[in-house]
Amino acid sequence: MAFSNKKIIAGNWKMNGLKQDSWQLTNDLLNKFESPDDNFGFQMIICPPATLLSEITSMVEGSPIATGAQNCSDRLNGAYTGEISPIMVKDVGAKFVILGHSERRAYYGETNEIVALKAQSALDQGLTPIICIGETLEQKEVGSALAVIEDQFMNSVPVNATVDNIIIAYEPVWAIGTGKVATLQDIIDIHSKIREVAEKKLGSKNITILYGGSVKPTNAKEVFSTDEVNGVLVGGASLNADDFWNIAMASI
Ligand code: 13P
Repeated sequence: MAFSNKKIIAGNWKMNGLKQDSWQLTNDLLNKFESPDDNFGFQMIICPPATLLSEITSMVEGSPIATGAQNCSDRLNGAYTGEISPIMVKDVGAKFVILGHSERRAYYGETNEIVALKAQSALDQGLTPIICIGETLEQKEVGSALAVIEDQFMNSVPVNATVDNIIIAYEPVWAIGTGKVATLQDIIDIHSKIREVAEKKLGSKNITILYGGSVKPTNAKEVFSTDEVNGVLVGGASLNADDFWNIAMASI
């Protein structure tokens, strides 16, 4: 398994955070770690908006917290107004990049093919892509969740991926920001499907899979109660230091 056996506690701040409150949130999290050498049983990652990525990455340098971007271009540099290259993400010291989040797929037209190109480009720069997949409510209701997951995995994961250089985030679209967390059985079924598809495409089931969708301190223990879950990708609750920390604590 990539990233040792530590659970990954990743926070996706989405389009939230101005300088002042983001410094505060980051400092509050840093203060939760008693010493930078403490060997916690989890790896914490925070993904602030692009405007703050450089600054927050500098703030957490030398601490147990790593950072990631929420998106990047498939291009390395040049005339692509408004885009952020994986070289730039790497340059500021971030190690991860969330790609193919359902909000980007739904609102910005990102297809599996675009996600795969971005992920390949991120991998080429030594970043670890966190590739998001997940079915919509309609797809779940007509019974096509497993087929959607397989299609998204097969086509969003780039050719040079291995089970050790990417992370998959399973985020059912109907569970994001809705307060409806998937049932433990849903999580187990989909994560084991993802492992089956990983074996087919990448030759091993041993891939790191995060669950995302309304993870809160109140349900985190249950989410972590299955070995299928290697970590979580948290939206709303990652904007509150106590909540995010309590989710991390529920993993150990
Ligand atoms: P919520 O935790 O707010 O449901 O968001 C999940 C998510 O989209 C993380 O990427």
